[in-house]
Parts: sequence; C-alpha cells; structure tokens
Amino acid sequence: MKTALVTGANKGIGLEVARQLAAHGFHVFLGARKTEAGLAAAAKLAGDNPGEVTFVRIDVSDSASVAAAAKEVGQATDHLDVLVNNAGIVVDGDSSILSTTDEILRETLETNTLGPLRVTRAFVPLLEKARAPRVVNVSSGAGQLDGGADGWAPAYCISKTALNGVTSQLAHGLKHCAVNSVCPGWVRTDMGGANATRSVEQGADTIVWLATDAPHSLTGQYLRDRKPLAW
Ligand SMILES: NC(=O)c1ccc[n+]([C@@H]2O[C@H](COP(=O)([O-])OP(=O)(O)OC[C@H]3O[C@@H](n4cnc5c(N)ncnc54)[C@H](OP(=O)(O)O)[C@@H]3O)[C@@H](O)[C@H]2O)c1
Repeated sequence: MKTALVTGANKGIGLEVARQLAAHGFHVFLGARKTEAGLAAAAKLAGDNPGEVTFVRIDVSDSASVAAAAKEVGQATDHLDVLVNNAGIVVDGDSSILSTTDEILRETLETNTLGPLRVTRAFVPLLEKARAPRVVNVSSGAGQLDGGADGWAPAYCISKTALNGVTSQLAHGLKHCAVNSVCPGWVRTDMGGANATRSVEQGADTIVWLATDAPHSLTGQYLRDRKPLAW
C-alpha cells in the first residue's frame, strides 16, 4: 500500500489533501500538533475511503516531536511514498518589514521554512525505501519575488520565498526524490478567510497531482495550477 504523511492535516488544505490521498487508496498518516483535533480529523476520514488514515502527532517547529513522529511512522510502515509539508502559520498582519520583530520572523521561519526541512530530513530514511518518493512543500504566491512586496505579512512572505529555496536545494540533494513547491491559490480556510476565491478541493488539486500522477522527473519547481512558474 502506498503511504503518505501530511502535516497540519487536521483542517484546511491539509485535511483535504489527506482526504484525497485516502480516496486514492493511500495509507495516510494525518499529522497534527494537537492530539484531539488530529484524532477527530482522522476519525472523520476513516471509513469513507479505500485507504487508511492514522493520526500522528507532529509539531513541525519542534525537533523532538518530529523525531518522535518519524519513529512512530517507521514502526507502522517500512517506507514513505509521499510527504506533504503543508503546516503553516501567518503570525504578522499588514505591517512594514521595519516593524516586524525578530521574534515574529523567527517563529514564522521555524514553522514555514525550517519545519518542512526538518520533517523531510527526519523522514529521508523512509522516503529512501520508496520506489519513487515525492515531497510536496505547500508554499504561497506571497513568496514570489517577481511582483515585488505589497506590505502584507512580510515575515510570512519571506518564509515562503525561503521555502522555495529549500525546495530547490532538496531537489538537488535528494536525487531519487521529486521535490516541488506549490502555491494553492487563495483558499477558503481559517488562514485564507471566507472571501477567498478557491475551495479546499481546488487548493489541494496541484498538491495531490504532484503526490500522485505528475511525472516523477518534474522536480525542483514551484507550481500553481499544475504549471511550473518563475518565482
Ligand atoms: N489558505 C490560503 O489562501 C493559502 C494560500 C497560500 C498558501 N497557503 C498555505 O497552505 C498551507 C495550509 O494552509 P491553510 O489555509 O489550510 O491554513 P489553516 O486552515 O490555518 O491550517 C494550517 C494547518 O497548519 C497547522 N500548523 C500550524 N503550525 C503547525 C506546527 N508547528 N506543527 C504542525 N502543524 C501546524 C495548523 O494546526 P492547528 O490547527 O493546530 O493550528 C493547521 O492544521 C499553509 O502552508 C499555508 O501557508 C494557504
């Protein structure tokens, strides 16, 4: 059975990615930092899908939690086909970079940038045992440098630009593994808000495609709507 870990999967885009991967027949390890929310989400998905769903506690900002999750998943499966680094936070709002504190920047980078890197590192031994492993990092158009900054959430934007850099480096470092970043678009979740233009199904589409049907030779890219873009 194919296996996948999705971080931050108790709600929003991550939950929808977990649902779709379970519908594809994956054994999904549904990652969440809060046990109650993670168990409830896993229970919601279990039964409705051909795949299996197992809750795993993982706080991507905490190395000990990530190591414990890798151990737990390693006891349940001998390989990991797909890792979706979805967990993310926006700590800052509309503010100038000049009023963004070091604390805000550190907290944001810890989850959005270092998080995907440390989770990938911890799961490399399991990814290496899969035939054609895939890592998908959920990034954002907010990290694109081509349009210039507009003042919204500078720490978040910087963290996603840096995440695209992490993706590029991992694609080089993990030769056997397809590693890509995705902009899901503006999606109706707690983060995106009710006025966002896309449903979670639409937001999950490119992520799930990269996790399943995209050519494995496609790697080191930043994509939106299944198409690589410059960032
Ligand atoms: N929504 C959009 O319009 C949009 C646009 C571009 C990119 N994105 C990206 O898409 C991803 C998912 O966002 P979303 O819209 O689904 O947001 P969301 O509804 O706020 O969900 C975020 C998820 O990440 C989890 N999370 C946060 N910090 C974590 C940590 N340290 N360890 C583990 N889990 C953690 C949250 O857990 P808790 O429930 O415990 O807080 C939650 O499950 C993020 O990376 C976001 O940056 C979203």
